[in-house]
Amino acid sequence: MYVNIGIIGTPLTHTLSPIVHNCFFSATCINGGYTVFDIKDSSKLEKSLDFLREHHFVGVNVTHPYKEKIYELCNDYDKLAEYSKAVNLIKFNDKGIKGYNTDIYGVDQLFTLNNIKVDKSSIIILGAGGASRALVTALNKYTNLDIYIANRSIEKAEAVANLSMHNITAIPYDKLSSIDSDIIINTTSIHNSDFDFLNLGMNIRDCAIDLQYSNGLTPFLDVIKRRYPHLKLVNGIDMLIMQAYKSFNIWTGREFEFDIKYFKINVIKL
Ligand code: ATR
Repeated sequence: MYVNIGIIGTPLTHTLSPIVHNCFFSATCINGGYTVFDIKDSSKLEKSLDFLREHHFVGVNVTHPYKEKIYELCNDYDKLAEYSKAVNLIKFNDKGIKGYNTDIYGVDQLFTLNNIKVDKSSIIILGAGGASRALVTALNKYTNLDIYIANRSIEKAEAVANLSMHNITAIPYDKLSSIDSDIIINTTSIHNSDFDFLNLGMNIRDCAIDLQYSNGLTPFLDVIKRRYPHLKLVNGIDMLIMQAYKSFNIWTGREFEFDIKYFKINVIKL
């Protein structure tokens, strides 16, 4: 049997997901392939899902900007996708489409693998889309957090804040300057250095995390490094790999051992 999986979203020019999943296929001796579908027109999303089902796809990953839109097109959910109302993985079945969220596991693993002390910290979150929903849900397992969530649309920030069990405040970007925090986390999909709103006087003590990944510093971490040279910088590569591992497990039912450090050096060549 050939296992057809892939990813939908846009833009997808730099995605590393095919490399990661093709390595998982080799590790498990499963015959399959991972295809990238860059869907620029959101009105074609539903038809694209029909196409994937007709072509016997087991399911696909879903990335920006469709994690919330896809939620509406599923008719069954795992617990975390239902809670966060964001879906980054779908699986087709006889009754329709089941939505999952493996980003939440990925974020949690990113904190653990990078020794980020989350408990009792003050956190600024930038962005209130699908990735932000996963992050805010992942943070619910920690204790005593003060969270500030900033977004262009404050209504979206408030909606994401409603997922949190912590003391969380939705603020516009121009109010960030008065905030004092331990950790800043970028969840926006800005993929250039257009972070003008960060030229502000925030005080950040320990760490900057970008849920985006790149080979080296992401544009966000590059801007942050120049302004806050004392911070520990973490990009989203561990999240990418660990959410992919969980996704592969959901599609194929297979678990296997792998060493993420070896994987990053030898497969992704970081
Ligand atoms: P993802 O699935 O990666 O979270 P998304 O759901 O499309 O992607 O969310 C993208 C996030 O990036 C949103 O918070 C969006 O802000 P708005 O809700 O205000 O649109 C944010 N974003 C994208 N481009 C941006 C820009 N140029 N400036 C500020 N925020 C931006």
